[in-house]
Amino acid sequence: MTVLPIVISPDPRLKQRSEAVASITPDIIALVENMFDTMYASNGIGLAAVQVGVLKRVIVVDIEWHPRERHERTIAIRGNPIALINPEIVHSSEDERSHDEGCLSFPGHYSEVIRPDSITVRYQNLQGEECTLDATGLLSTCLQHEIDHMNGIVFVDHISRLKREFIMRKLIKAQKNATNLDS
Ligand code: NI
Repeated sequence: MTVLPIVISPDPRLKQRSEAVASITPDIIALVENMFDTMYASNGIGLAAVQVGVLKRVIVVDIEWHPRERHERTIAIRGNPIALINPEIVHSSEDERSHDEGCLSFPGHYSEVIRPDSITVRYQNLQGEECTLDATGLLSTCLQHEIDHMNGIVFVDHISRLKREFIMRKLIKAQKNATNLDS
């Protein structure tokens, strides 16, 4: 089990477009496993590779996992883990839903984001097979959030400038404080 460090905003990598995965190599499979470990350890329901510093079109999601205490430590009971390679939204509904979104790269910050309620995503699984997934509700929101990451878009790009600037100021301040403590 490898929990990787998470890229925290502001970081220029979060603004970059990730590259398509040409083939599912053992490195990609190891990356996916480490991304699941990192996501569960950080209490997240989704993670994009850029958030662990890898600019590849790879995301993992599991909106149904839950923590369980075992031998005095908390472990993640997997719910419905899905790894998506080169995911692409091929259809979005007119209906929308609003969700109070957070992001592991924006620790402690949340904001309502409105997105299409249902989407259809095309992707490759870890066997390299072409798959299609119809998602609605929270899974749809989560997938759209992660697919955004691969295009250098973060959830605060969907909110008002005023709210975004407020959150960015807090993050810059937190980063400065952390640097001061380190030195
Ligand atoms: Ni995120």
